Amino acid sequence: MSGSVGKAFGKVIVLGEHAVVYGEPALAGALAAGCAVDVRKSEHGLPHLMLDTRVLEVSDADNGVCKSMKIAQDAAGLGALALDVTIRFDVPVGAGLGSSAAMAVALPRAMFAFAAKTLETARLIELSTQIERVFHGNPSGLDAHLARTGELGLFTKKDGLQAIRAKEPVRLVIADTGVGRSTQTQVSNVAARRERLGRPIERTIEAIGEIARMGADAVTKGDLPRLGELMNANQGLLSALSVSSQEIEHLVHVARKAGAIGSKLTGAGGGGCIIALAPGKEEEVAASLRQHSKTVVITTLGATS
Ligand code: MEV
Repeated sequence: MSGSVGKAFGKVIVLGEHAVVYGEPALAGALAAGCAVDVRKSEHGLPHLMLDTRVLEVSDADNGVCKSMKIAQDAAGLGALALDVTIRFDVPVGAGLGSSAAMAVALPRAMFAFAAKTLETARLIELSTQIERVFHGNPSGLDAHLARTGELGLFTKKDGLQAIRAKEPVRLVIADTGVGRSTQTQVSNVAARRERLGRPIERTIEAIGEIARMGADAVTKGDLPRLGELMNANQGLLSALSVSSQEIEHLVHVARKAGAIGSKLTGAGGGGCIIALAPGKEEEVAASLRQHSKTVVITTLGATS
């Protein structure tokens, strides 16, 4: 029996992570790569869940992926059926490129397609938010929005995404530190620091928001040197929030030394990926980063929009 497939995009935050949780804007775009979920009726009458090449125990109530599958399956009215579910990622998982949000969108899409039911946008947003919360308590909604729409723009919690058109294509080099981290932990650490230190952290968050706004303007005007400078300033402020790490700083400086005009962490930090802007020098920067990172790719921002 053929399966029903649900897909969603990964994402890259260019400017504004963490501050977006507090209502500030973030500049971000979807990646063409993301997550695909295949759902079919189990041939042997037993439920089966594959995560890439790993088999998961479907009834494991502590496993976030199993919990997510159950939310989507129940919502589609398939709770009683034994299903064969395969989840595949073509972005690194847990590395700041929106893999969990992509899964949070792809799972309901696949389940509703299998059930031959229409999935309204509002319901998809509800379900993806519920699933994202399994992995991290207080999502801004940015990752899930981009996973769903594949857009590029300036996102705020209040107004959603304001799409922008880049004057020049923005090519980014992405490199993975290979260090795993939890978005939930990073977001909670920032919240605790804001609670403890108050005003200086609030002002850092506001400054990041201002940088994201300026970055959106630079992308619209095709001013890549300004965008690069803003990325470097944003990295300094993320460091002030203590979400950078030795491994991130190392890759950021390798990229700058090789010719990147802007380089910073992307996503929640603490590990995961860095991005580098190096107009015309992407290959050289990628080659230098490959000496220190197993996963390096060159991508064009908002390639899907
Ligand atoms: C994670 O990709 C981005 C954060 O800003 C969290 C969020 O927006 O939900 C750190």
